[in-house]
Amino acid sequence: MDRIRLIGGNELNGEIPISGAKNAALPLMIASLLSDEPLVLQNVPRLADVKQLERILENHGVDIAVHGRRRGEEGEGQRMTFHAADIVDTTAPYDLVSKMRASFWVIGPLLARCHEARVSLPGGCAIGTRPVDLFLFGLKALGAEIDIDEGYVVARAPKGGLVGAHITFPKVSVGATHTILMAATLARGTTVIDNAAQEPEITNVAECLVAMGAKISGIGTRTLTIEGVERLHGATVDVIPDRIETGTFAMAAAMTGGNVLLKGARPEHLQAALDTLARTGVALSVEPEGLRVRRNGNGIQPVDVETDPFPGFPTDLQAQFMALMTMASGTSHIRETIFENRYMHVAELARFGADISVDGQLATVRGKAQLKGAQVMATDLRASVSLVIAGLAAKGETVVNRIYHLDRGFERLEEKLGRCGAEIERVAG
Ligand code: UD1
Repeated sequence: MDRIRLIGGNELNGEIPISGAKNAALPLMIASLLSDEPLVLQNVPRLADVKQLERILENHGVDIAVHGRRRGEEGEGQRMTFHAADIVDTTAPYDLVSKMRASFWVIGPLLARCHEARVSLPGGCAIGTRPVDLFLFGLKALGAEIDIDEGYVVARAPKGGLVGAHITFPKVSVGATHTILMAATLARGTTVIDNAAQEPEITNVAECLVAMGAKISGIGTRTLTIEGVERLHGATVDVIPDRIETGTFAMAAAMTGGNVLLKGARPEHLQAALDTLARTGVALSVEPEGLRVRRNGNGIQPVDVETDPFPGFPTDLQAQFMALMTMASGTSHIRETIFENRYMHVAELARFGADISVDGQLATVRGKAQLKGAQVMATDLRASVSLVIAGLAAKGETVVNRIYHLDRGFERLEEKLGRCGAEIERVAG
């Protein structure tokens, strides 16, 4: 299994291009199932999760093409066409779905277009129980009949297809919002989704659906209203830049010091995280080409944060922020409110000498002047990258083992950091 080896202590200086957002690319790819015409996506990142979803979509009969550049070639994001002319199979099997939770979301479009779906219960990062009750609640409200059969969710639409409904989610869920939004575009009548997730990736998908002919109002708010249509058509849509990658590199630069331009970043997509970062003493400036992050030897102030659904501080940046706080000049508190088991990086950060204690959802981080390099193990996607950025700031050598999680969500991580002065390499085997 590949490892990352790095020598800490170098400042980061230069430019880092921000890739297309994984969490937008995945649901946009899934939206292609809603139409028999091609959906063209631009700026799709080259990631293991994208490849995995390609396999799942191909299994349903989607033809996938990559334009202008060969598969696997380096460079800017991919331009890809997803053409679901005929859905040949409405089953998403266990061996494909179990590797990535977002693949469960195909249940919405399949049910809307084919009136049936059989989708394995999901897998993905082990960051809590991550149930699917909200998805099933929403789909049932649209008239679907649901059975659980040998680890599969078997869903059937009523005769004539799904029917619009008023759905109030008891809890904000990104995945359930994507899924019900997509399903409602082809339902008969009007659907209202209250307490919808407002993440920028939801907006990206909603705007894609509108470009495909869907009728949606309230985009970007807590209430989405969808007027069902008979069919959707093809469209060409850009994947938004990855706000989690942006925040991760911003925190890396904050930890190592230096001056980095995050090219193509959209600061408004991570304002809460940037406000928090500014309070730690990092200088941030918005430039025409992106976001500039600077820290010139000043200390890092401790700042308390709580993760929340958008527009709050994202849970996907919690581990990276904790890494930064291990170097603050004092004690900070981090409260994780989205997932119940998202502190697996704490034990690994301790190997660098970090002083962190956890009590339920609350972590207390007592900052130290200097971390020391260590052998650590990547546990989930965002936790893994927190170990890499801790290693960049630590003294001496760090080896991050089991980095396949990183390849799921970060495009060309070593290359992007290496170009800015980090001493980092991938060791095969
Ligand atoms: C998405 C993101 C993930 C991010 C998370 C929260 C993608 C591909 N993944 O994951 O990176 O960390 O949003 O911002 O976009 N829940 C239920 N029942 C359900 C569904 C969810 O209780 O049926 C709970 C979850 O266990 C969790 C909370 O709701 O505690 C939020 O989860 P959700 O927003 O659904 O996360 P994902 O869509 O899986």
